[in-house]
Amino acid sequence: MSRLIVVSNRVAPITEGEPTAGGLAAGVMDALRQKGGRWFGWSGNVVPDMVTPPLPVVEQRSGPISLYTTDLNQRDYDAYYKGFSNATLWPVFHYQTDLAHFDWAEFEGYRRVNRHFADSLQALMAPQDVVWVHDYHLLCLAEALRAQGARNRIGLFLHIPFPAPAVLMNIPAHAELMAAMCHYDLIGFQTESDRLAFADYVLREMGGEALPGGVLAVGGHAIRTGVYPIGVHVDMLRQEAAAAADSAQVQALRASLGGRALIMSVDRLDYSKGLPQRFTAYERFLADNPGWHRKVEFTQIAVPSRSDVHAYQEIRRELEGEAGRINGRFAELDWTPLRYLNRSFARRDLMPLYAAAQVGLVTPLRDGMNLVAKEFVAAQDPADPGVLVLSRFAGAARELDAALLINPHDEAGTAAALERALSMRLEERRERHAAMMAVMRHNSLERWRDRFECDLRNPASLEHGASAA
Ligand code: ADP
Ligand code: G6P
Repeated sequence: MSRLIVVSNRVAPITEGEPTAGGLAAGVMDALRQKGGRWFGWSGNVVPDMVTPPLPVVEQRSGPISLYTTDLNQRDYDAYYKGFSNATLWPVFHYQTDLAHFDWAEFEGYRRVNRHFADSLQALMAPQDVVWVHDYHLLCLAEALRAQGARNRIGLFLHIPFPAPAVLMNIPAHAELMAAMCHYDLIGFQTESDRLAFADYVLREMGGEALPGGVLAVGGHAIRTGVYPIGVHVDMLRQEAAAAADSAQVQALRASLGGRALIMSVDRLDYSKGLPQRFTAYERFLADNPGWHRKVEFTQIAVPSRSDVHAYQEIRRELEGEAGRINGRFAELDWTPLRYLNRSFARRDLMPLYAAAQVGLVTPLRDGMNLVAKEFVAAQDPADPGVLVLSRFAGAARELDAALLINPHDEAGTAAALERALSMRLEERRERHAAMMAVMRHNSLERWRDRFECDLRNPASLEHGASAA
C-alpha cells in the first residue's frame, strides 16, 4: 500500500474547533480529514540550543490523521523560520524586496533544518509512499531526501506566489535554491502566472527545456509543473455560517451595529495583506461620502503573526496609529467608524461574522490565493448575499472575477468600489455571488487535493494534459 505523507512547517492543531494559523494549515487539515494520512511538521515549540538534533518526533492521532511533530532549537528557529523563511523568502516571493534581508548563515540554517526534517521523515516513510511537501519553508527538502537515497515520488505545492526571475534573483542564493527545487518530481502553483515565472527561470537561467504537459527538463531531471488553485469546502462553510447565525456573538455584533452596514476584513497581521492601504482607502471613502457617516462600520480582525520578525512589529505599530487617527478624525460619541481587533476567532465563529457583513474587503498587495476571500463568499446567504471587494493581486482574483476587483494601490478606486458595493442592488449581488459560487464549487478543496495527488502518483496524467486547471 502506498500511503500519502504530508510535510509542512506549520501543522494545524489536531483538536477540532481550535483556530488554525493561516491558509496552509486550514487547507491541509480539511483535505486530510476526509481521506486520512500521515502529516509531519514543526510542533511550534522552540527549545534551548543545548538540545541538539535529532530532536524526538511525537505522534498524535485524530481519526484518520496521524500527526507527527518535532521541536526546533533556538538556533535553528532563528536561522530557518525567523530568518531565511520569513525575512528573505516571504518578502521576496511577495515582491517586497525592500523588506527582505539575506544572510548566508541563515540560508545554511534553512538547509540544515530541511535536512533534519528529511532525517525524521525517513523513519515515517516506506519506499512506495508518496510525499507531498507544502510551501516555502521546505524548498530544499526533496534534495535532502534524495541525498539520503529516497527514491519516492516527491511533490511540492507552493501556497504563496512565485516571483518573476528578476525579483527572485535578489536572493543571493537563488541558484542554490532553484537547483534544490529541481529535485521535486512535481511542483504545483496557485496560478498559471506563478508557474510561468518558475518555468521562465528554469528555461533562461538554467538552460532547461519546456516539454509538453508542463514538464521542464533540466540537468537530467524532468520536473512536472501544474496549476492547482486551492479551494474551500463550500457547503461546510455555508452550514457553519447558517448554524451560528443567531449565536450570542452574532447577536452582540448586530446589537452594536444598530442597523448600520458592516464592512469586514479578516487577516493575519502581515504586510503583504495591504492593511495600511486598506485603512486609507476607507478613510477616503468616508471623506468622499458624508452620506454614509453613521450608516456604516468597518471591522478589521487582524491576528498577530510572526511577531518576532522586525517588519511585523513595524506594521503592527503603524496600524495601531492609523486606526486611532481615522477614528479620531471621523468618530462621533455614538459612532466608531473603524473597529480594529488583534485577535483570532475559531473558524466556526468567523463564518457567521462574514455572513453578517454587507461587504468583504480583501485587498492584499500580493497573495498566493487568499482563502479569506473564498470563505467570505461561501458564508453568504445566496438569497441576500454580501459583496466581495477583492485585490486583483490575490491568486483568488483569477477565479473570482465576479467580485469587484480593485488595485490596492489605488485609494480612490478602492473607495469608489466600497461605495458601489454598499449600494449594489439585490439582483446584481445575487448574480455575482452565484457566479463565484459556481467557480468555487468546481475548484473545490477535494479537487485540489485529488488532482495534485493523482498527478504525483501518475506522472502520465500530467504528460497527457489530463488535469489542466
Ligand atoms: P494566509 O494563508 O496568508 O494567512 P489566507 O487568506 O489564504 O491567508 O488564509 C488565512 C486563513 O486563516 C483563513 O482560513 C482564515 O479564516 C484564517 N484566519 C485569518 N485571520 C484570522 C483571524 N484573525 N482569526 C481566525 N482565523 C483567521
Ligand atoms: C501562510 C503561509 C503558510 C503559513 C501561514 C501562517 O499561509 O503560506 O505556510 O503557515 O501563512 O504563518 P506561520 O508563520 O504562522 O506558519
